[in-house]
Formats: sequence, structure tokens, C-alpha cells
Amino acid sequence: MSTTSRRGLFLTFEGLDGCGKTTQMRLLATFLRARGETVIETVEPGGTEIGNGIRRILLDPRNQNMGPEAEMLLYFAARAQNVHEVLEPAVARGEIVMSDRWTDSTWAYQGYGRGLGTEVVRSLDAIACRGRRPDVTFWVDIDLEESLRRARSRNKERAEQDTRMDDQSRVFYERVHAGYQALAQAEPGRVVKIDGLGTVEEVAARVLAAFDAYRSGHV
Ligand code: TYD
Repeated sequence: MSTTSRRGLFLTFEGLDGCGKTTQMRLLATFLRARGETVIETVEPGGTEIGNGIRRILLDPRNQNMGPEAEMLLYFAARAQNVHEVLEPAVARGEIVMSDRWTDSTWAYQGYGRGLGTEVVRSLDAIACRGRRPDVTFWVDIDLEESLRRARSRNKERAEQDTRMDDQSRVFYERVHAGYQALAQAEPGRVVKIDGLGTVEEVAARVLAAFDAYRSGHV
């Protein structure tokens, strides 16, 4: 019998650009499906047709003059649609939803990185997500040097995907990293820090161990 009949679960993956969270999310999803779970994967910004339209605006390098408040509200608009269309229905069906980034990205990138503060992020989250927060968040942590190194080599491989975000300064990313760190300290029961250095398999084993530890405590 499928174990998803227990209850729906909402898992998110977070971290600096290039931390490997996208690969790790895919691996965990594949692994859990092989165990008989029903897993829905989504991504922020995006995840729905409306969200993908918003994503194009957000990541368009021509939109350099976008103000930080407009940027934050657009991230939340995409997320609200994701909650409405994807997250709530799937969790209600008892499925596992995994998201590549969620409100913690807004906390780290806009709240800390752009200096908008974390209170406003919390308030907007309550509206956009209707009070639903992730059950577990895997913060795949790499240091800033590693993030920049990976982002640079990724940009070389995919020159056409030269996003606005990849142009941000080092100071910005330092603040983003500090934001994730503060979050992990503030919510140790939800945010699990995963060491993102090592091979893909090594990191995947850490993620799976953290997932199983959560599951065994929340049957
Ligand atoms: P993307 O190309 O998806 O990068 P990644 O694979 O690292 O997730 O671009 C997402 C970018 O958007 C990334 O730099 C982080 C940023 N972002 C925010 O600034 N705030 C947010 O709320 C979200 C969801 C993403």
C-alpha cells in the first residue's frame, strides 16, 4: 500500500545559486517514487503557467530597473498561484510536494540580500501561502566561493541563460548566505542544513538520511 495515504507532505529545497538543490530534489523525488510515493515537483519562481510568465519578467536581464518591492511582490504572486493550483490540491490528496525554492528564498534574497527585512516576508507569506509552510526544508549549503565558481562555469555552458541574478555582487550573496544561516538557527525543527560539498551521491545520501529522520519522527 502506498505510504502517501498517511498525509500530504510539503518539502522544499533551498540554497545559493549553484548549490545543487535542483539535482538533489530530483534524486529524492525519484527515490521516493521508487518507494511507492506520489511526488509532485514544482519550482519557484514558476510552477504554473501564470508563474512561468512571472518568472520570465523576473529573470529578464532587460528588467534591471525593477524595484526591490515590485520584485518581491512578483515572487509572491507566482507563489500564491502555485499554492492555489499545485500545492494545496496535491497535499489535500495526500501526496508529497517538493519545491525547488520557496519563501525562504525570498527571506534570504529579498529580506536579507536586498535589505527589505524579514517581517514583510513573513506577512506576505501568510497571505500568499494561506498559512501553509513547508514541513521540512533542506538547505543545501555551500560557501560563497563555491557558489560563484559553479555559477560562473554554469553560465559559460549556458551563455544564453545569462540571468539578472547571476550578475549580483558578492556582497549581495554574502547577505543571502547570512539569511539562510539565520533561518536555520531560527527554525531548527524545520530547516535542515545539508552539507552541499562532495559528490552528488554523497549529498543525496545526506538528504535521504535527513528525510528518513523526519519521517520516522512524524508517522
Ligand atoms: P534560477 O535560474 O531558477 O536559479 P536556481 O537554479 O539557483 O534556483 O533563478 C532563480 C533566481 O531567483 C535565483 O537567483 C534566486 C532568485 N529568487 C529570489 O531572489 N527570490 C525568490 O523568492 C525566489 C524563489 C528566487
